[in-house]
Amino acid sequence: MTDPDLYPVSAAWAERAHMDAAAYDAARIAARDTPDAFWAEQAKRLDWITAPTIIKDVSFHKDDFRIRWFADGVLNVCFNCVDRHLPERADQTAIVWEGDDPAQSGQLTYAELHREVCRMANVLKALGVGKGDRVTIYLPMIPAAAVAMLACARIGAVHSVVFGGFSPDSIAGRIEDCGSRFVITADEGLRAGKRIPLKANVDAALEKVAGVETVLIISHTHADVPMIAGRDVRYGEAKHGVSDDCPCEPMGAEDPLFILYTSGSTGKPKGVLHTTGGYLFWVSYTHELVFDYRPGEVFWCTADVGWVTGHSYVVYGALANAATTLMFEGVPNYPDNRRFWQVVDKHKVEIFYTAPTALRALMRDGDEPVKASSRASLRLLGTVGEPINPEAWRWYHEVVGEGRLPIIDTWWQTETGGALIAPLPGATDLKPGSATKPLPGVELELVDAEGGVLDGAASGNLCITDSWPGQMRTVWGDHQRFFDTYFSTYPGKYFTGDGCRRDKDGYYWITGRVDDVINVSGHRMGTAEVESALVLHDVVAEAAVVGFPHDIKGQGIYAYVTLNAGVEPHDDLKAALVAHVRKEIGPIAAPDSIQWAPGLPKTRSGKIMRRILRKIAENDLGSLGDTSTLADPSVVDDLVRNRGS
Ligand code: WT7
Repeated sequence: MTDPDLYPVSAAWAERAHMDAAAYDAARIAARDTPDAFWAEQAKRLDWITAPTIIKDVSFHKDDFRIRWFADGVLNVCFNCVDRHLPERADQTAIVWEGDDPAQSGQLTYAELHREVCRMANVLKALGVGKGDRVTIYLPMIPAAAVAMLACARIGAVHSVVFGGFSPDSIAGRIEDCGSRFVITADEGLRAGKRIPLKANVDAALEKVAGVETVLIISHTHADVPMIAGRDVRYGEAKHGVSDDCPCEPMGAEDPLFILYTSGSTGKPKGVLHTTGGYLFWVSYTHELVFDYRPGEVFWCTADVGWVTGHSYVVYGALANAATTLMFEGVPNYPDNRRFWQVVDKHKVEIFYTAPTALRALMRDGDEPVKASSRASLRLLGTVGEPINPEAWRWYHEVVGEGRLPIIDTWWQTETGGALIAPLPGATDLKPGSATKPLPGVELELVDAEGGVLDGAASGNLCITDSWPGQMRTVWGDHQRFFDTYFSTYPGKYFTGDGCRRDKDGYYWITGRVDDVINVSGHRMGTAEVESALVLHDVVAEAAVVGFPHDIKGQGIYAYVTLNAGVEPHDDLKAALVAHVRKEIGPIAAPDSIQWAPGLPKTRSGKIMRRILRKIAENDLGSLGDTSTLADPSVVDDLVRNRGS
């Protein structure tokens, strides 16, 4: 019997792909049984100054906890992403840029990218940036963002890219946490025709945090921004007469490459640290396998470089594989909802990789905006960031891909560096809504709440029992937090924070976070962060935040707010609180719904029972569960009665 929900690999794909089903099985076995030999061979895809002899050196156990890959290897990431392509591909386009305004686009060849990166690296050096220094990058989606990242990598500086949608407070927190003395920003960004005051945001951030010596400003919109003497440097002036030759710093495989802040279930965002050898290897390896990538193909990942997806697949994985990578400054519905497909046709995009939230929003507008384009250049479609509902999967497959393109659903995390669960187009039959199977070297396990291992078809918490080269190495400045967050819940295993089902065919279906992290439009948000922002407002006594299902965003943000005594609840105050959260964290953290809560459901020991709050937010009122352990069960009745108010 054929399963209507199974989309088998076509003969043509099995034939042309880097990996067919037999090769996939062989690689999985080799990675598991003879990891040193397997990964040493695979690591030859990078250019090493000194090839590694120590390959895998890993333990997830408390007493000998360590994660090191290719530890004695020496290489430079920028060399691998740029210089090594010059002999054969100097004139190939490395970066295609499509502006927010459809009239603005441009490109850089590998030779031009090399010159630009060397110049910026020399400017950074002249400003005093050295190996190991942290550089905060707060830029729009323009080639200079990739150039800045690569320039840091070239000289061994550690970048911390902060998404352009984050607030001055968020920037300040990240600068402070990693102690960066240098910031690279632009005058302004553009988004759907609106100007984003990047330089002004940096100025505001630097009023709250000390230690930044230099701000390098890239001119993008040519807005007239105030300059602070002695601190601010215009890049356009600084790069005058600077040499376009800059040697690559030899780096140990385990030297830091970048820090990227991501939300957790508690406290402030944590600085996820990725290192040089393992990370670059993993993003290059997975970019080739998962997208079945060939050098020179036009690859478009729509993510912003402020997120890990942008780091790994707009910049590092793509450029390491000699791609033509597309950077898009705009949004899917500006000037109108045909934009994605117009850009595909304009730049002859072959591989397109986006988030389910964007697809759901576009799907709502029907098929016409898609059909107004040819999309003939496309040969593969990908998704990332959140579970894709089968309905959106089918729309992507049938309407965008006209039934002829594989849909590659990639599951991974900021922490994992690159994709871990994903179909390979020449090897894996597809099932709509499933990220399918683990890549070679990825050993998954489902466990129950007590840590009992579940076999066969089952649902549980998703763990990974062994290391892969792209794994994060530490939380910047807090190695204990790294261990505690990921390795202490189920000793000896990395706990992903995701719930997951495995079906009878061994396919994995991610069901979403099981911790206090919510996924809003594919962006990760800690409920604790939103709560801290809310209670900073002087009318708020207490706040509890949960996720709830949202048609477009996947999850929306639902906030229960207890006002200080004497403060009258009214709708203007809700608007003020939403504005306050936008200002504190950024627009992505803005609550979709605020409910006034005279009291919150707490246990006698004072712990908020989020399970109940989630049910009320979901309007799942029939199954609130046992409320008898609450200090005051009547608060639940009140919240139910006043749901949504
Ligand atoms: C969380 C990680 C992967 C880079 C972008 C997000 C969810 C991610 C999928 C997918 C189902 C997914 C998980 C994960 N997630 N991709 N294909 N199917 N869920 O990185 O911000 O670190 O978030 O995103 O819940 O834990 P991130």
